[in-house]
Amino acid sequence: MELLEQIKARRSIRKYQDRQISRADLEKIIEAGTYASNAGGGQRSMIVGVRDRDLVERLGRWNMARFDRGRLIGSYVSREQPSVIDDPTIKSGFYGAPSLCVVFAQKDFLFSIPDAFCCAETMLMEAFDLGLSSCIVSRAEETFDHAAGAALLREWGVPEHYIARCFVTLGYCDGPYPEPKPRKAYRAKIIE
Ligand SMILES: Cc1cc2nc3c(=O)[nH]c(=O)nc-3n(C[C@H](O)[C@H](O)[C@H](O)COP(=O)(O)O)c2cc1C
Repeated sequence: MELLEQIKARRSIRKYQDRQISRADLEKIIEAGTYASNAGGGQRSMIVGVRDRDLVERLGRWNMARFDRGRLIGSYVSREQPSVIDDPTIKSGFYGAPSLCVVFAQKDFLFSIPDAFCCAETMLMEAFDLGLSSCIVSRAEETFDHAAGAALLREWGVPEHYIARCFVTLGYCDGPYPEPKPRKAYRAKIIE
């Protein structure tokens, strides 16, 4: 598939099969992330892949621990792939995905957040090309902001000056692959 067709076809997936992804695919997705565009070419982001589904589930619950649905009343994300905003019964912010990547960036760097999300988007496209499904998930900072979270990051060897900025869930889509929402017309303009 041509790249533009792939970009248009990729969707955020929140319903996953039990099937685990291969370590080789996870390695390729992480490698793609390390080649993402990054501020000043400083390569300041860092990616940790997790293929332990019990750990992914635990992290997914931490991700939801401080989530306040009250602030999001009226928001709607997807009917086909309901998000935690759409369905209050969802307990894990990672939707039962069997694998996960955590994207870290330097705490005190001006482009810390954009660097991490550029990384994540590049990983989504590699995952799609490999026939896998994914979703960017936010609230990464608060996910590890407690004693058990800090202990886990120490165990992983994440340096003190790094902070988790976002996640990429990974797995195989369960059920029909969703259609994109129609694009808003005013978003694209060309000045000659
Ligand atoms: C900055 C950012 C944060 C996001 N955070 C979440 C999130 O916390 N949970 C979630 O389910 N999806 C999250 N998403 C995925 C978006 O909801 C999704 O990209 C959007 O609904 C468009 O759907 P599509 O990716 O299928 O085109 C995030 C996406 C971005 C770019």
